[in-house]
Amino acid sequence: MAVNLLLGLQWGDEGKGKIVDVLTKNYDIIARFQGGPNAGHTLIFDGNKHVLHTIPSGIFHENTKNVVGNGVVIDPVIFKKELENLDQHDVNYTDKLLISRKAHIILPTHRLLDAASETSKGKAKIGSTLKGIGPTYMDKTGRNGIRVGDLELDNWKEKYNALTAKHIKMLDFFDVQIEYNLEELEAEFCEGIDKLKTLEFIDSEEYLNNAIKEKKTILAEGAQGSLLDIDFGTYPYVTSSNTTAAGACTGLGIAPNRIGDVFGIFKAYTTRVGSGPFPTELFDEDGETMGRVGHEFGATTGRPRRCGWLDLVALKYAIQVNGVTQLMMMKADVLSGFSKIKVCTSYNYKGEEIAHLPYNIEPVNVSVNYTEFKGWKADLTKMTSKEELPENLMQYIEFIEKETGVPVKIVSVGPDRKQTILR
Ligand code: GDP
Ligand code: IMO
Ligand code: MG
Repeated sequence: MAVNLLLGLQWGDEGKGKIVDVLTKNYDIIARFQGGPNAGHTLIFDGNKHVLHTIPSGIFHENTKNVVGNGVVIDPVIFKKELENLDQHDVNYTDKLLISRKAHIILPTHRLLDAASETSKGKAKIGSTLKGIGPTYMDKTGRNGIRVGDLELDNWKEKYNALTAKHIKMLDFFDVQIEYNLEELEAEFCEGIDKLKTLEFIDSEEYLNNAIKEKKTILAEGAQGSLLDIDFGTYPYVTSSNTTAAGACTGLGIAPNRIGDVFGIFKAYTTRVGSGPFPTELFDEDGETMGRVGHEFGATTGRPRRCGWLDLVALKYAIQVNGVTQLMMMKADVLSGFSKIKVCTSYNYKGEEIAHLPYNIEPVNVSVNYTEFKGWKADLTKMTSKEELPENLMQYIEFIEKETGVPVKIVSVGPDRKQTILR
């Protein structure tokens, strides 16, 4: 049985959590493959809103296993809070939440290093969520990290103490002062570790490949978006993992020839939170309207998201890098009421009109060309079938399909699980 992937094609927050939740009924296993608590995946159903950071978005379904893969980085403190939220909603996770022994652990000092690095960068800061993601992946690739499997060994505390001591020395290298109380941080960290240890640790690559042999269905859940990928994103304004399809292979131990469909999620417009180039960003009333109507505030940090029109140049790039087979358009409802809808179809770059993503898309290098569509007035949020969708929206969707060569299979018309139209 093939493993299907679901990933974001823009700068994150496309609505991955919502769609994983919608699709979970078709799968035996949902597996997160990268990122950590920098992610915020929102699910809304039965009048409740849930935001998941590390836990896969299939957790609310009775019969689905949820795997936190080896590519994920876990902060035990945040993880414990996520579990406590599930407790409040009487979600029984003990039998269905499985943690890879090879997943790396975010230490309190990783968060401090993240803060020191960002503060010292001043205006050039990445706009990190400050969850310690960069420093943890640095320790992973630097071969210094602590993994979940280490918690089963007697000497993990020694490893922890040695790494923490090194981090504290490293803090001195930054020309900024970070206030912290290590004792307090360690107390909550230890509580988090104790909670984490109540869950089942697995050799996740073995578990998933056995599941494939047993013809179980698996959906791999991405975090962040393709333009935040460490290799293919708008470097250095990216996250520290491979958010693209290849990240699912390394983040779960699944071979490329096991991948089936790749579901690419995008908003009908574009948002970005944090620093970095964003060619179609709007600084006018249209951008303000998108932010207001779309409630564009980060699910993890609460920061306002920057808003702009859909960028087809960037979208095609993401589709190519990921091998997307089906598209899912999110937040179409937010565009209702705009008299004109614009979509970026080419860039001006070094005096030439180009239709591919160049090395550097900073505003000094790139300006955008738009194709315009007529807007629609109808409220989409109560619509339940594709026949109800306004003609002008259909023209917009069909243009995207023609340009990308990939069908748009889902149109999302509101944040609730039920506000999802299949095409
Ligand atoms: P993720 O990180 O990709 O899972 O996305 P986030 O949860 O960070 O951000 C998506 C936001 O849009 C959340 O607040 C969702 O509840 C909301 N959302 C998802 N789909 C739709 C939609 O079709 N319409 C509207 N209006 N909101 C949506
Ligand atoms: P989900 O999974 C949107 C952004 C941060 C910052 C950059 C680096 O909810 O889509 P990091 O904390 O990784 O060092 O931050 O990446 N970022 C996200 N933006 N959605 C996310 O996740 C993000 N995770 C990180 O804002 O610009
Ligand atoms: Mg999010």
